[in-house]
Amino acid sequence: MSHSLKVPFLDLALQYHSIQEELETAALRTLRSGRYIMGDEVVEFERKFAEYTGSRYAIGVASGTDAIQLALRALGIGPGDDVLSVANVSAPTVCAILATGARPVLIDIDPRTFNMDPNRLADYLNKSSDRNQIKAIVPVHLYGRSADMKSIKEIANQFEIKVVEDASQAHGASAGEDMAGTIGEIGCFSLYPTKNLGACGDAGVIVTNDPLVAEKLQMLRNYGERSRYDNSLIGFNSRLDEIQASLLNVKLKHLRRWTERRRQIACKYNQSLGKLGINTPGDSIENLAGHVYHLYVIQVANREQFQSDLMQLGVGTAVHYPKPIHHQLAFQGVCVTDGALGVTEQACRTVVSLPLYPEMTDEAVEMVCDSISQLVRSGRCTLQNMA
Ligand SMILES: Cc1ncc(COP(=O)(O)O)c(C=O)c1O
Repeated sequence: MSHSLKVPFLDLALQYHSIQEELETAALRTLRSGRYIMGDEVVEFERKFAEYTGSRYAIGVASGTDAIQLALRALGIGPGDDVLSVANVSAPTVCAILATGARPVLIDIDPRTFNMDPNRLADYLNKSSDRNQIKAIVPVHLYGRSADMKSIKEIANQFEIKVVEDASQAHGASAGEDMAGTIGEIGCFSLYPTKNLGACGDAGVIVTNDPLVAEKLQMLRNYGERSRYDNSLIGFNSRLDEIQASLLNVKLKHLRRWTERRRQIACKYNQSLGKLGINTPGDSIENLAGHVYHLYVIQVANREQFQSDLMQLGVGTAVHYPKPIHHQLAFQGVCVTDGALGVTEQACRTVVSLPLYPEMTDEAVEMVCDSISQLVRSGRCTLQNMA
C-alpha cells in the first residue's frame, strides 16, 4: 500500500481552524472590553472548570509549573522538606518542587502504566529514616491515565502526608469514581497549548475542595494580596489573563467531544497494534475508560530507527521523555532517587509517542497503523514490552 498522506505528530492549527470563529469572537470581545486581568472571563473559567472536575474551587494561574509550586507553598512546603514524585517526566514538576526549596525524591514507576508505583512508594516510606521530612507526594498522571490514586491516597493517609496531583496531562481522566486532580488535597493542571485543554499561550489551573487552601492560592497568585494593597502573604504574579481565559471558556465546551474522539482513535490503535504484538495502553488495565489519551505511547527497542522509518513513511512521532530527570545536568545533586529506578530507565530508553489528536481523520489513523504494521512485519521494528 502506498501512502501520500502525511501525518504530523501534532498540528495545533487544525484545532484552531475547527473552532476559529468561536475563538476569534471571544478574543475580540475581550480585547474590546478593556479588562485584561482578573475579570469576568477568569471568573467564568474558574467556575466552569470547578464544575467540570467536580471540585469546590478552581484557581486560574499562569502555568502548570506555577500551579504545582503554588500548591506546595499553600500547603506550607518549603526548605528542609522532601516531596516524592517520579523521574520519567520533563523538567517542570521537579522545577516546581525545587522552587519551593523542598527536595524532590524520585520513586520508580509501574511498568504497565508508566505512573508512580504505589508498592515502591510504600516501601520507600516504610524504610525511610527521616520520615518526618517527607511532606508531600506529587503523582503525575502521565499520558492521560490517572496514577493509582486509591493506593497512593491510602499510603499518604497512613503516613499523614499531603498529595498534590500533577494532572497536567489528564484533564477529565477518571480515577475510580472521581476525576484525576480531585483526590489529593490539591490538583494541578497545565493548560499549555498542546494539552487536552490548552490555551493559546501559557496558562494553568488548580483545583481543591478546601476553602482555606483556595483562599491562600488566590492570594499567592496575586502578590499575596487578600484585597487590593492588603498583603497577607509574600506572593507571586501568577495570574491567568483574560484573553487566555476567554479562549479556554470556548475550548472547555469542546473538551468532552475531543476526549471522546481521542478515545476512538486510541481504541483503533489498541486493536490494530495489539494484533502486531505491541503492548498497548489498553492491554491490561481495567480502568481503561478513564484514560484521556493525552499521548499514545508504545515501546520499541530500536527507537531511533523506528522513528526515522516512520518519518520516511510520512508519520511523525515524539519521545516523552528521553532522559530520566535525575540524569539531567541541572538536577544532579539536587534530587535524590529511591535507589535504582530500573523501570524508569527502561521506559526512557524505549517509549515513543504516536500521533493522536482529535482532528486526526480516520484515514490518518489507518495510515499510522499500516505504517507500523509494515515495519513490524518486515522485522525493522523490534518490540520492547516491559509489562
Ligand atoms: C506532567 C506535566 N507537569 C507539568 C507541566 C508544566 O506545565 P506548564 O508548561 O504549563 O508550566 C507539564 C507540561 O508541560 C506536564 O506535562
